Amino acid sequence: MKRIRDVDRDESENRFLSGFKTNVQSRKKKKINAVCKITQTQLLQEFKIYNLYETFEIVEKINEGAYGKVYKAINKLDNNIYALKYNKNPERIKELIMREVKFLQKLDHKNIVKLYGIAYEGELDSNFYMIFEYMDYDLRTFAFKYEKSLTLSHIKNILKQILCGLDHLHRQKILHLDIKPANILINKKGEVKLADFGMSNLCMGGKYPKNSITQNYRPPELFLTPNESIEYKYEVDIWSYGCVALELLLLKDRDRHANQMMFYGSNDLDILNCIFSVCGSPVKDKVWDDAFSINRNYVLKYENIPKKSQIDHILGLFYKDCTKVTSFVQDLLKIDPKQRKSANVMLYHEFFQADPDMSTTDDIRNIILDVDLSESKELISYDDI
Ligand SMILES: Nc1ncnc2c1ncn2[C@@H]1O[C@H](COP(=O)(O)OP(=O)(O)OP(=O)(O)O)[C@@H](O)[C@H]1O
Ligand SMILES: [Mg+2]
Repeated sequence: MKRIRDVDRDESENRFLSGFKTNVQSRKKKKINAVCKITQTQLLQEFKIYNLYETFEIVEKINEGAYGKVYKAINKLDNNIYALKYNKNPERIKELIMREVKFLQKLDHKNIVKLYGIAYEGELDSNFYMIFEYMDYDLRTFAFKYEKSLTLSHIKNILKQILCGLDHLHRQKILHLDIKPANILINKKGEVKLADFGMSNLCMGGKYPKNSITQNYRPPELFLTPNESIEYKYEVDIWSYGCVALELLLLKDRDRHANQMMFYGSNDLDILNCIFSVCGSPVKDKVWDDAFSINRNYVLKYENIPKKSQIDHILGLFYKDCTKVTSFVQDLLKIDPKQRKSANVMLYHEFFQADPDMSTTDDIRNIILDVDLSESKELISYDDI
């Protein structure tokens, strides 16, 4: 049975999509609760606040993640396109303010998606929409669409841009905690930006829940710990970034679907199995850290899997001289978290300097233009027939 709040949500969403025909100002005024009082004060002080209905015209729904719905919208004041993200779960609004808005406010970097302000739906205490710069693709959609045109040079550029964003984030002592292709955005100018800070947290050296980070991009130590929380720092984001890097580098693998995750499985054990078979299994009698105890039941199951990393072999199938590519991925996807290199160190990795030269951002823009142009030509010739 739907709760009143859900019905209210459905109604307002229909209005939202159908051009806001209803006079929202006549909506019953809700009591401002404590969370929204904080929100209102903070937002009014720190952000540009817009009335959703007066400022934006919705074009379409772009996508829907686990927590948010994202809409493409035209700002009637400046005629520019923006992305509006609504948090589906009103109970999470405080968390949303604390995390995504608060973190993004601190982050001003060309490789991090820009938050322009907040739009409210009716009353200032009602539903909030975060106003983001509009990005044309997420990396998952982008890789799927342009995989045939992407060379190692382009992939280097994309990986470098993501790394620049990650380095900036880590310098601000922020953990992203959900690095994955769906949370990395690209626009038609070829600019790549980190997005979705809904899981982010300050890195203050403490314990965090072990179920942070989307399963397929979650580092092995989070699966292996027998405890509910575990101490970690920036190396967890580095693992997720390593997964994204390997997925991009293996776009050439025709047996893999461009949308396929590197480490997949229907449960934790399957995913761990996949990780160990690619990256090597931890030596079973080695304790990485006193504060970090491996769940030995998991490890023992992997005695028969080769302990050596297979990354060089896998990449060797697709790259002639793969030493730099391999060492880049291996420095990221170390089973032992302490051995993973930092984003800052990785920025200077020889992979970016080695042959072939890294593309420019303009080169990425050009492949987007070329593919889009040939697509529209195909459409024209189809119509001509
Ligand atoms: N600024 C933007 N411009 C264009 N599309 C965007 C933008 N922000 C998000 N998207 C699209 O919407 C999707 C969901 O956004 P986002 O990841 O921020 O929401 P979420 O619900 O928190 O996601 P998750 O499922 O990862 O928790 C993204 O994967 C992307 O496809
Ligand atoms: Mg997301």
